[in-house]
Parts: sequence; C-alpha cells; structure tokens
Amino acid sequence: MTKVEEAIWTTEGARKRSAVQGMFADIAPTYDLINSILSFALHHRWRRSAVATLQLKRGYRALDVCCGTGDFLIPLRKAVGVDGFLVGMDFCQPMLDRAQAKVTENLSLADACNLPVANEQFDGVSVGWGIRNVPDIDQAHQELTRILKPGGRFVSLDMAIPTNKLMRRASEIVANKVVPRIGALFGKTTAYTYLPKSTQAFSTREQLAASMQRAGLIDVRYRDLLFGNVCIHYARKPGARQA
Ligand SMILES: C[S@@+](CC[C@H](N)C(=O)[O-])C[C@H]1O[C@@H](n2cnc3c(N)ncnc32)[C@H](O)[C@@H]1O
Repeated sequence: MTKVEEAIWTTEGARKRSAVQGMFADIAPTYDLINSILSFALHHRWRRSAVATLQLKRGYRALDVCCGTGDFLIPLRKAVGVDGFLVGMDFCQPMLDRAQAKVTENLSLADACNLPVANEQFDGVSVGWGIRNVPDIDQAHQELTRILKPGGRFVSLDMAIPTNKLMRRASEIVANKVVPRIGALFGKTTAYTYLPKSTQAFSTREQLAASMQRAGLIDVRYRDLLFGNVCIHYARKPGARQA
C-alpha cells in the first residue's frame, strides 16, 4: 500500500480529506480520458439521466457539488437554460482548473461537508461520484439538504456493487485487475487502485438511502444503471416547489 492509499484508508476527518484532495489533484489532467475509457463514454449519458431526476425548469438555480472537471454542468445548463443560475463546487483546485477550461459556469473551491452557501438557495443539487469520497456521508447529506429550497431535488450518481452474483464477480475482476492496470498505463496506479476499492467499501444502496432520509430528504429512490455497477439515488426536500 502506498503512503497516499494508507492515509486515505486509515485516517479520518482532516487527514483523510487532505489525502483524497491530493489524489484528485494528481489525476486531474487525465481524469476525463480515463473516465471515458473505463465507462466506454457512457458517463455522459448517466449524468443526463441523473440531471433528469432533478426536474429542473428554465430559470431554476442548481448546484453541482464535487463537480470535478465540470461534466455535470453541461446537462445542468441545458436544463436551467441561459436564465438559470448554476454553480459548480469542488475542494480540489486542479480539478476546478480543468472545469474552467471546459465550461463558462461559476466555479468555487468548497468542501461538500461545509458549503459556503446560505440555507435554501437551490432548486436542484447534484453530486457525481463524490459522496463516496467525503469523510462523513451523513454530514454531506445534511449540508446538501440545508441548501436546497423546500421542494428542491437532490441526486447522487455513484458506483455500486451489482446485486446479481455473476455480475458482481465480473465487476470485482474489472475493479481489482483491469482498472488498476489502465490507471498504471497513465502512471496513476494509486488512485485507480483506491477508486475501485472505495466502491467495494462504500455504503449499500439501502444505507445511502437511509442517510438521505436521516438528513431530512423524502421520496428517496434509487435506480441501477449498467447492470447495477452504477446507481442513481434521488430524493426531494419536503415542501412545495416554487414555480
Ligand atoms: C470522481 S470525481 C467526480 C467528478 C465529477 N462529479 C464527475 O461527474 O466527473 C470526485 C470529485 O469529488 C471531489 N471531492 C471529493 N471529496 C470532496 C469534498 N469533501 N468536498 C468537495 N469535493 C470533493 C474531488 O475533488 C473530485 O473532483
């Protein structure tokens, strides 16, 4: 195990946060390319499906947390239109720098567990492949719920473990053998060993849904993609949505 991996797995709070931040800084330049290789470019379609669950209208206000290189901001902009207000936040500046080169949206350096946002500001909040990496998932869900307007919608897209036994075995082989080797081709073995392992250690669909409910979200649902290797969790904050 490398020092970075050890820090991510064996530390908590600020030390884990800083190890994860460093890992994403390291993979920022190759993140988009490796993402497309590993998902056969399907990740764009998955983000569109996730954004659809937010039921955004023209002029709405949306926030993408853990925005990374900004790919969620593209379907979000389509959904809220030119009059909509859109922000992407991430705690890793090199990832935001890549986003800046790609989109013209507002971007801000911020931690998902402590967002510099007043209460009830957004009609929709998305997180893609981010919740898995935060040091405290309950705290992140509480924070994301706090900044949603009443009736606002939340979506989280992330990797999952297939429920089908054969598919689970196949995805273990991909996670343990294929992904680290592809990462190694780009000199990013540590990150692409950690990322699939973090999926295996991640909360189950039911645990994630329960965390969202504890945060005060209602109508929590989830939907599998890619034979259960990817899962979209979505929910809404109680109250009536403003038109
Ligand atoms: C796997 S990338 C996903 C990026 C993007 N959402 C996408 O759809 O491609 C995870 C991102 O989450 C960010 N991240 C991880 N933990 C975070 C935290 N506690 N606060 C803010 N961003 C965080 C990382 O910096 C990284 O950019």
